Amino acid sequence: MLVSARRRPRSSGPEPRSLATISEIDSDLALPVPTGVVEFDQVLGGGLTAGSATLLAGEPGVGKSTLTLQLAASTAGSGGLVIVVSGEEAPSQIAARARRLGPLPESLMVLDETSVDAVTAVMADRRPQLVIVDSIQTMHRPEVDSAAGSVKQVKASAAALIEAAKAASISLLMIGHVTKDGSIAGPRVLEHMVDTVITFDGDRSGSLRFLRTVKHRFGPTSELGIFEMSADGLRSVPDPSDRFLADRQPGLSGSVVLPCLSGRRPYLTELQALAVGAGGGGHTTAQGLASRRVDMLRAVLSCRAGYRLDGLDLFLSVAGGVSVTEPAADLGVALAIASAVDNRPVAPQVVACGEIGLGGEIRSVPMIEARLQEAYRMGFRAAVVPESTKGGPTGLRLLRAKTLLHALELVPEEVEGQTAD
Ligand code: TYD
Ligand code: MG
Repeated sequence: MLVSARRRPRSSGPEPRSLATISEIDSDLALPVPTGVVEFDQVLGGGLTAGSATLLAGEPGVGKSTLTLQLAASTAGSGGLVIVVSGEEAPSQIAARARRLGPLPESLMVLDETSVDAVTAVMADRRPQLVIVDSIQTMHRPEVDSAAGSVKQVKASAAALIEAAKAASISLLMIGHVTKDGSIAGPRVLEHMVDTVITFDGDRSGSLRFLRTVKHRFGPTSELGIFEMSADGLRSVPDPSDRFLADRQPGLSGSVVLPCLSGRRPYLTELQALAVGAGGGGHTTAQGLASRRVDMLRAVLSCRAGYRLDGLDLFLSVAGGVSVTEPAADLGVALAIASAVDNRPVAPQVVACGEIGLGGEIRSVPMIEARLQEAYRMGFRAAVVPESTKGGPTGLRLLRAKTLLHALELVPEEVEGQTAD
């Protein structure tokens, strides 16, 4: 009964209006439009798409308002109408900040409003190219019986804004605050409603900020954008490898350079490990790495390579505050721990890259060629890599390892050729 009720009769009633041959549908509408903030556009695979909804999530103070104001000014600078809806800061504060960041285009407007209905009315009337809502937690709909910032209000407000954006082909960018534990109403509850979720983070005590897509309906995810907070706003960091390796002290034990990948973009960063006295608690403290993965590598080092790590406290840290979560970092992590425990430095011109299995075997990693090219560009002259690796740039010696034990034998203390520093 249920099955036959669901099935529609083949030829009764008019065809629905939205039924169309796919080749005849105009797909240009789905093309991203550059905002002009290059690093942001790169992370989004080109820019913002008309009629799409994007959520920019990050902790308070990380720089969300600054970034979006720069985007707004840049988009308005090329003629598009941009409206910044501000529920957090007074228009005078926004104007003061915008003035410090650069020239003020005529088509950049500020709407001092927290009522969603008022905002959607302006959207329908003015049909801007881009609307920025700072922040979604300040918006409310009177018919929803709940305080601004509550899950109910945030969801209802976002739903109405998204609908208005789709109806008028407006790019909607909503800012959402998250706290460290991610528990407050906001970003999490909106993730399934929007087309794109971008996170903006970084150590607020430092100047580097990282932008990444965690969900993206129109392009790749895991692309990383790197910015630096300066006195006049956020600037992109076009050469992250150079930046991450700038303060490196070659010749230290426990230091290994990792060729990482963010989306399709390779970059190098330094990993440091420190092993502190046997008889400790045997704890692992990892900054910028997944600690479970480090625990696994610790176990592999001890079971497959004979390292005695019982009671040793291990500290690991990735330079620049960047997080490296890809398994391709395994080999570098294991070599850094071994180097720290043995107090034996790895030659400074060497990088290491490979995934490690529980058997101690080294597995291939995606886009090894691009990673090795980047290592060569930055002056490295040898790389410990999975055995299956082919090619690689001329001038970069490949040390192909089958197992972790094999890699530990291969890793040199010295390499001929130009140093990486
Ligand atoms: P903000 O964009 O207000 O953060 P969010 O909207 O995520 O809460 O930026 C916060 C910090 O950035 C603030 O402490 C001051 C600093 N900042 C600069 O260092 N340079 C600048 O040009 C601007 C505008 C802000
Ligand atoms: Mg803000």
